[in-house]
Amino acid sequence: MPLAPRPAPATVRWWCEPVSAFAGVPVLPADAHRIARLARDADRLRAVAGTELLRRAVARIIGVRMADLRVSRSCRRCGSDQHGKPWFPDTGVHASLSHSGGLVAVAVAAQPVGIDIEALAAHTAGEWELDEWVRVESVVKATGDGLAVDPRSVALMLDGDHRRVTAYGEGALDGVTVDLPAVAGAVGAVTVLGTGPVVLRRGDLGELDDAEEFGSPRALPL
Ligand SMILES: CC(C)(COP(=O)(O)OP(=O)(O)OC[C@H]1O[C@@H](n2cnc3c(N)ncnc32)[C@H](O)[C@@H]1OP(=O)(O)O)[C@@H](O)C(=O)NCCC(=O)NCCS
Repeated sequence: MPLAPRPAPATVRWWCEPVSAFAGVPVLPADAHRIARLARDADRLRAVAGTELLRRAVARIIGVRMADLRVSRSCRRCGSDQHGKPWFPDTGVHASLSHSGGLVAVAVAAQPVGIDIEALAAHTAGEWELDEWVRVESVVKATGDGLAVDPRSVALMLDGDHRRVTAYGEGALDGVTVDLPAVAGAVGAVTVLGTGPVVLRRGDLGELDDAEEFGSPRALPL
């Protein structure tokens, strides 16, 4: 009997950086309303840092200048374009953002992806083990449902060095979850929708500069 073809691996580029690395970054007009509605200074700083890292990462991966990247949001619950999972029209690129404590993290992939980090000092997962909580949150962020799906309905099964989603809400979901390695002071996980193996590639801020003066910056391959 012929063997079924193996699903192609999904590469996830991810960054995890201190919020302080984005001090003084200006708020873009497209984000001003959303960020101004946050009550606390710390939340606004985190939101600015997260949005900046998200824009830098996605723009660099598709090889456009940050100013030319269109970021949309949509809430599955209420239809608002002011919150919900960010997406990037006409790019074929998916990304996810997480902030916790003094850290922001972004994951970018060619498949729907979710990332979640929790700073150990900001631990609020209640009855959950923190490791398990970030895995489940990364699943609901990959689908875009967020906590509209009961996190207790999400089940994961260990399979080698990753986990597979075995239950989701009322039904099933193909998804692969991997723990983030070595994030100082935090734990984190990434989920990619699909069945293929996941390859994580951590990036650093230096590779995300937008220094090209003419034309488009060179694209970072996924
Ligand atoms: C997003 C969520 C899953 C996790 O939040 P969290 O662990 O507290 O926070 P994180 O920092 O890890 O993630 C927040 C980021 O996830 C992204 N996000 C928001 N909603 C999302 C969703 N449904 N799916 C995927 N990503 C989402 C956003 O980028 C957000 O950051 P930003 O607002 O600065 O852009 C949870 O807060 C949630 O489900 N929120 C939506 C609640 C809701 O549906 N409210 C009803 C509004 S009508």
